[in-house]
Amino acid sequence: MARWAYVNGRYLPHRQAAVHVEDRGFQFADGVYEVVTILDGRFADLEGHMERLGRSLRELRMDWPAAPRVVEMIARELVRRNGLHNGSLYVQITRGVASRDFKFPAGAKPTLVMTAKRVTAFAKPEHLENGVSVVTVPDIRWGRRDIKTVGLLAPVLAKQQAAESGAYEAWLIDSDGTVTEGSSSNAWIVTGEGVLVTRPPSTKILNGITRLSLLRLAAERGIPVEERPFTVEEAVNAQEAFVSSAGTFALPVTRIDGRPVGNGKPGPITRTLRQAYLDYVAGMTA
Ligand code: PDD
Repeated sequence: MARWAYVNGRYLPHRQAAVHVEDRGFQFADGVYEVVTILDGRFADLEGHMERLGRSLRELRMDWPAAPRVVEMIARELVRRNGLHNGSLYVQITRGVASRDFKFPAGAKPTLVMTAKRVTAFAKPEHLENGVSVVTVPDIRWGRRDIKTVGLLAPVLAKQQAAESGAYEAWLIDSDGTVTEGSSSNAWIVTGEGVLVTRPPSTKILNGITRLSLLRLAAERGIPVEERPFTVEEAVNAQEAFVSSAGTFALPVTRIDGRPVGNGKPGPITRTLRQAYLDYVAGMTA
């Protein structure tokens, strides 16, 4: 089936989809984005992603390119045109096209781009079976990580370092030695006492939409939760660790910098939460 993208009012063959060379997203990373998973024909947490997109825009004093319900309609139409049953939708909004000048341009119209891709398996069977490994790297990102901007150079470098070390993800370490989050995921542990721990929302992390759903699902199942920072040492000594994001849901982490987490195997709470998330999305109407 042909692949389609959306650019500023038009559905285009993916290969022909392009923005202007003076788009501020290209020149200044002056833009925000969302990644939304399509699971068995349903958007996972679309409402949460749309809300966060609105928040990111507000924080950067950027306008919606169209009413949120219209953006949502375009997203649905793009997924339909691509015939996606399982996949990933990428939505990007930038401050628009203008002659290069750092200040906000007067009268530029925001750029809206969407792409969609098919996903054949959200996790490799061996990742679910054995867990994934992470490496730790210093968190060198800017001070507003709560905004989902397309300024992703630090995460690009971190993820590349992870890949070159044979790891799945990089965990980013704050100057005080605590884990902030993954390069493109939130970080979690389960303590020896069975308490689920993840960092509270602040400007130091992106408040993951999957994270928020997992917190709610954990509470519904009576799993005790503490939102607080944790160190690498605490994570290595934990019973379980995992990462969450759109598309990974809850994916077990069993090695940190080559050291096994707990008994080195994926644990029951990670498994329960992953299944709970999948069931939750399966029960959504769209
Ligand atoms: N990344 N933290 C960071 C730094 C992220 O980039 C992401 C998501 C998350 C998890 O957020 P959510 O649960 O809303 O996906 C946390 C996406 C998937 C990406 O950039 O591809």
